[in-house]
Amino acid sequence: MQITQSPKVAAEYIQQGKLVLFPTETVYGIGASAFIESACLQIYKVKNRPQDNPFIIHVSSVEEIFLYAKVEEYYKDLIKALVPGPITFVLPKRETRLFSTGLPTIALRVPDHPLVLEFLALAGPVAAPSANLSGKPSITLKSDLLVEFQGKVDLFLEGNEPNIGIESTVVDLTSPEPTLLRPGKVTYSRLLKYLPNIKKNNYKKIDKPLSPGLKYRHYSPNCKVLWYEGEILQPKLSGFLGFSLKKTKLNVIVVDNLEYMRKLYSFFIECDRLNLSFAYCEKPLEDEFADVLYNRIEKAMGM
Ligand code: TXA
Ligand code: MG
Repeated sequence: MQITQSPKVAAEYIQQGKLVLFPTETVYGIGASAFIESACLQIYKVKNRPQDNPFIIHVSSVEEIFLYAKVEEYYKDLIKALVPGPITFVLPKRETRLFSTGLPTIALRVPDHPLVLEFLALAGPVAAPSANLSGKPSITLKSDLLVEFQGKVDLFLEGNEPNIGIESTVVDLTSPEPTLLRPGKVTYSRLLKYLPNIKKNNYKKIDKPLSPGLKYRHYSPNCKVLWYEGEILQPKLSGFLGFSLKKTKLNVIVVDNLEYMRKLYSFFIECDRLNLSFAYCEKPLEDEFADVLYNRIEKAMGM
């Protein structure tokens, strides 16, 4: 795998139908040109991802969102206000050449990462899921990324590491009734200010999920993820992530929920690297980010 810091070089790889790893403000992505189907299909192979789970198309501006999707007037202010940022909009598809899994809708996102915006402006739309093997935690550290994808991908566009740590908020704007499909740093309460009628999807138990990815096991390390309830049964076989020092094999201390989000996935990955049996997570603080953390941690528990 080649490593570059040049958005121009990375864009050339994309246009040649190759795969490129790149950072975003949320987590690392693995991308291909959204106009080259064979390249997009290759991502499924590398990630071992179920083929009915569609990708987010990353673009460099609001204008491109309006170009590639049909956006109702009453959604335009919301999109303009939140772009670029850690949020993905599911919209009716307008540009039929864009890669998708046969759905009439498309997920679009403009990452808040200057280097990547430069890359996307040169590369055109890039279809990219999170850069991790399917079902495993997303990756937030360059060191973990290189271990996972060495030899499997053509190029890594190196830039500032993700600083949010969990994937973007996904919101469905395909009808007049907006729905939050995946919580993220852009919280439900923040969205309510723009979309007073927004519904929360029941992200847990749905037979027919609105978002294909919701039905799969996600974010799970090999070790067992448990809530910390005041006791650690086997400290030598356990990792602990929370707000205080514990006598465990691995102890990751955070001061607030934002730092908790930033460190969650690298904690899971480190627990597996150390071959631990248990990853204890302390309950998050009760603020607007609690929802997001509960969502990701409960998924990692297999709930
Ligand atoms: O922060 C992020 O969103 C990261 C970075 C790399 O941008 N990407 C990411 O992609 O998390 P991925 O593929 O791991 O998650 C995308 C989610 C999946 O749950 C997928 O099912 C959903 O978005 N999705 C994609 N297209 C959709 C569509 N047309 N309708 C409903 N859900 C869609
Ligand atoms: Mg993912």
